[in-house]
Amino acid sequence: MPILFHETSQTFHLYNEHVSYIFKVLKNGHLGQLYYGKHIRDRENFDHLLEMQARSMAVCRFEGDLSFSLEHLKQEYPAYGSGDMRHPAMDIIQENGSRIIDFTYRSFELKKGKPKLPQLPATYVEDESEAMTLFVTLYDDVMETELVLSYTIYEAMPVICRNARFIHHGHFPISLESAMSMNLDLPDKDYEMIELTGAWSRERSVKERKLEHGIQSIYSMRGNSSNNFNPFIALKRADATEFSGEVLGFSFVYSGNFLAQVEVDTYDVTRVSMGIHPHCLSWKLNQGESFQTPEAVMVYSDQGLNKMSQVYHELYRNRLARGKYRDQVRPILVNNWEGTYFDFDEEKILSMAKTAKELGIELFVLDDGWFGKRNDDTTGLGDWYPNLNKLPHGIKGLSEKVKALGLQFGLWIEPEMVSHDSDLYRQHPEWTLATPKRPSSHGRNQYILDFSNDEVVDYIYAMLHKVISESFISYIKWDMNRCMSEVYSTVKSAEDQGKVMHQYILGVYRLYEQLTTEFPDILFESCSSGGARFDPGMLYYAPQCWASDDSDAIERLKIQYGTSIVYPISSIGAHVSAVPNHQVYRSTPIETRANVAYFGTFGYELDLNQLDQETLDKIVEQVAFMKEYREIIQFGTFYRLKSPFETKVTAWMVVSKDQNTALVGYYKPLQEVNTAYERLPLCGLAPDKEYHVSINEIDCYGDELMNVGLITSDTPPQSIDEIHDGSHGDYTSRIYIIKAK
Ligand code: DGJ
Repeated sequence: MPILFHETSQTFHLYNEHVSYIFKVLKNGHLGQLYYGKHIRDRENFDHLLEMQARSMAVCRFEGDLSFSLEHLKQEYPAYGSGDMRHPAMDIIQENGSRIIDFTYRSFELKKGKPKLPQLPATYVEDESEAMTLFVTLYDDVMETELVLSYTIYEAMPVICRNARFIHHGHFPISLESAMSMNLDLPDKDYEMIELTGAWSRERSVKERKLEHGIQSIYSMRGNSSNNFNPFIALKRADATEFSGEVLGFSFVYSGNFLAQVEVDTYDVTRVSMGIHPHCLSWKLNQGESFQTPEAVMVYSDQGLNKMSQVYHELYRNRLARGKYRDQVRPILVNNWEGTYFDFDEEKILSMAKTAKELGIELFVLDDGWFGKRNDDTTGLGDWYPNLNKLPHGIKGLSEKVKALGLQFGLWIEPEMVSHDSDLYRQHPEWTLATPKRPSSHGRNQYILDFSNDEVVDYIYAMLHKVISESFISYIKWDMNRCMSEVYSTVKSAEDQGKVMHQYILGVYRLYEQLTTEFPDILFESCSSGGARFDPGMLYYAPQCWASDDSDAIERLKIQYGTSIVYPISSIGAHVSAVPNHQVYRSTPIETRANVAYFGTFGYELDLNQLDQETLDKIVEQVAFMKEYREIIQFGTFYRLKSPFETKVTAWMVVSKDQNTALVGYYKPLQEVNTAYERLPLCGLAPDKEYHVSINEIDCYGDELMNVGLITSDTPPQSIDEIHDGSHGDYTSRIYIIKAK
């Protein structure tokens, strides 16, 4: 049993062979945190870890006892104002205006497996033996409110998943102003905080900062999880590297506003909390009502950042993503967006599809512009029926024709949005989020539908259901191209406006659930102006996500490297686009564009009919290469070898589960002259297996490749001609194929 309760000391110990998590019921009935880290052997009593000393001037709970102070105790789910003056895990306004909360322990329950979270995405088990869940129930007698803290520990992974649920029994309503999904008090502050930050087209750069007294946090108050900060942080020891040392990961399974905060007090205690951002949340609970927080997933690694990533990859690929495609290699696609933008008709699309088929591509995706009167980004959103001027046979007819060519057909949608110039807006202006009597801001000329209103979600579902069910659709790209502003729902009372942002996300999840259930054979890819909603919540419904609107291969090195900190390669939407690149105007060789995009779901995003024969021939080879190796790339074990944030080259590799095949991606943005010799130690190979290494054309044992390294030194170019064969010059790259003999 990986969860123990010691009656005499009132101590819970969650553990598996990797990790221990220990907390206990304190003298005042609250829960005190004792230890989170590498697995330690169990004992009846861990009270010595409480470290209660009488400290001058502390606020103390019991008369005559100067040692019991919530100011100094490490806690599981702290409240503010009774000694602990740090930021709390919850904030509740009560009938008399008080915010003092006192949840005390009542009981616990253990369940095999992991129950579902109602209406919310969450990690899951396929067999009850994979995990065990502990529910600890606390009660506030004055409010008459129950708080259930839930902890799931996976049997075979260093993973603990947490959430909190409030159930109100009291006669007087309460107002939940903050309800974090987790809190963790750690005994020291000797960590660096890692976050994934950015903006549109430069998502998920890896940033590190040393913890200091006070608050360091990342967040979104934009309504989507955002491209500014990803809902993830890690705390790493200063000496931890990619492959050694202690790293604690915290990831939030949610797609809306979030807060990931680390508060270090002046006693060097580090408090980590993660949950829905309190700013726009105000949730009234009447008698009998409840509030469920989303899930936070904690991963422990004592083998560096890379191991933490591998655990997240395995968990999110196998026990968060769902559906038919979870375990299937992803079709190689061509998407027409950068090839045509809004300027297409049926003839052009079919001719692109025909070429795609000849090249071995499997799926044609029709992006934005197929519906309503949409010929640019000012019109049509909300009118999910085909634009018959462009597509005289509709989506039904076009998809039939694409199918007849031997290709699958995919379609872009943006269900949450509306254009003012649309039939939907003309019929239902009250269905947008807009604050009465105040101007409404637009983003990319579009407005947001009120997905907190079930009627709106049902209406959109019906429209989408029609077009999908009458056509031959194998893939849907679900976009979301702006963040929220002037949030207000016309169907909600004044006191319920604080629910709208969360209810909006619940509406998005409901629509995803309905569509993915109704159409289980369709592959969904999420998207949000590129990667503004690349989060675990989305992965529950769509196993892949368009990583960024920046499709330049060199920029993508950073974006994909940063994304891999949490998200599996099978989830990273990555395409080869045209040169000069449409975002940075850089021209990179087609080889390098593919060598980067292979480490993702892989596809093309250009007009195939504008390419010369030499390029088309190379695409045939690339498609064949990806078909041969995608199983390994998308489902193998991924290792980051050289960071584009730290070194001039980028390198990463994947190893097949049987350790018989590995691919090393090596990328060199700038050509240098007369360079130093270079060896790249590899990872994950079998030390005793002999491998053949392509490019170097050499045979080596795994131990040599991992300890001595792969020789990646540049051979000096002998003539200018070598610039043209892709082996030298700026933006070059190589894929080493390493095969057991
Ligand atoms: C943003 C997406 O990231 C792009 O790939 C494309 O689908 C456009 N939206 C279409 O409007």
